[in-house]
Amino acid sequence: MNGSTDIRRTQVAIIGGGPAGLLLGQLLERGGVDTVIIERRSREYVLSRIRAGVLEAGTVGLLREAGAGERMDREGFEHEGTYLAVANRGFRIDFKRLTGGSVTVYGQTELTRDLYEARDASGRPVLHEVEQVRIHDADSASPWIGFNYQGRQQRLDCDYIAGCDGFHGVSRGSIPAELLREFERVYPFGWLGILSPTPPVSDELIYASHERGFALCSMRNPRLSRYYLQVPLQDSVEQWSDRAFWDELRRRIPHAAAESLVTGESIEKSIAPLRSYVAEPMRWGRLFLCGDAAHIVPPTGAKGLNLAASDVYYLSRALLQHYRENDDHGIETYSETALARVWKAERFSWYMTRLLHRFPEQSEFDLRMQEAELNYLESSAAAQTALAENYIGLPF
Ligand code: APR
Ligand code: PHB
Repeated sequence: MNGSTDIRRTQVAIIGGGPAGLLLGQLLERGGVDTVIIERRSREYVLSRIRAGVLEAGTVGLLREAGAGERMDREGFEHEGTYLAVANRGFRIDFKRLTGGSVTVYGQTELTRDLYEARDASGRPVLHEVEQVRIHDADSASPWIGFNYQGRQQRLDCDYIAGCDGFHGVSRGSIPAELLREFERVYPFGWLGILSPTPPVSDELIYASHERGFALCSMRNPRLSRYYLQVPLQDSVEQWSDRAFWDELRRRIPHAAAESLVTGESIEKSIAPLRSYVAEPMRWGRLFLCGDAAHIVPPTGAKGLNLAASDVYYLSRALLQHYRENDDHGIETYSETALARVWKAERFSWYMTRLLHRFPEQSEFDLRMQEAELNYLESSAAAQTALAENYIGLPF
């Protein structure tokens, strides 16, 4: 914990010290708005989470603005395209030629570490390992948060509350049930992912569609690779030895990649379920939801972190507009503005998941539709451009 522990009042209280909460904290602090971040876990725990790492240009810009972009600019990779593979044959989507844009590959764990260091440098507080967090009077002019910290009950008064506490946090549940609408699609499979201290098999990501299921080849740096396989939800990590994982990956990726694949002992292995989820509205009174607290995307479109950054973009602008110009237009329109971009990213993530995975209930006709869609994508610059502009990130 940095800064004094006896904090009674702030302008914006941020619940959640993940990427959304930290990024919002930095942008507001740099704009002269006081913030306090409270986080349920220790910093080590937050930084131990293995998460994706493809950043849209908008997210990259916000990280630089937050004073947390220096290492990303030094160690991140600019990717001007990606490979799609069908039945062991690949084709490239050239983002740069089709849209003029690109993405940056830089691990979310590293990015979160950079944001914590920027927060430390600001001297503003992050209270870790808080418990029993409860939001009070969010629909009044003087909201406050009650929580237990270091064995003592605390009260934090504020003007606004940013719920950046992820899918399992308390913020979304603080919106009266009769006002909250939820939209969800749970996919009938998971992603088995490994992290392996081996050189990446390709210079850009490979998204592979195969009759045995989807596969993804990604990376963290020249000595650290990240691979995923679509597996049945019933599977457990114990069922998948490294050997079984590598053999199955080789079966699903383009032959040339399979031949040059460097294998090794995995240093992390886990299965993640796939879900599309959106909660509306993203604001109730003086409580705002950001990131996973309001929406979840399947990872196929690499949108999770970028959507959190998008929410933070709109909310930081809205709050700075309030404090600087006493203009509440951004606050009034935050939910609809953020949701408009959320739904487009949800559509793209659902589209990529439907396009590249095998569904247990798929009919022969469905399979032909999938095949025709992939063939159309391979042969049409217009189709590739649509995919590319969504993948690199639609404008804020
Ligand atoms: N009180 C305080 N902190 C809480 C509480 C609570 N009651 N509940 C959860 N938290 C903390 C979690 O411990 C976590 O560190 O809120 C943080 C939420 O962080 P994330 O789950 O990483 O969510 P977000 O910051 O919105 O980032 C979204 O994370 O899951 C990925 O794919 C997702 O990339 C996306 C990104
Ligand atoms: C990852 O690097 O972990 C990753 C990349 C792209 C995705 C999902 C995950 O779509």
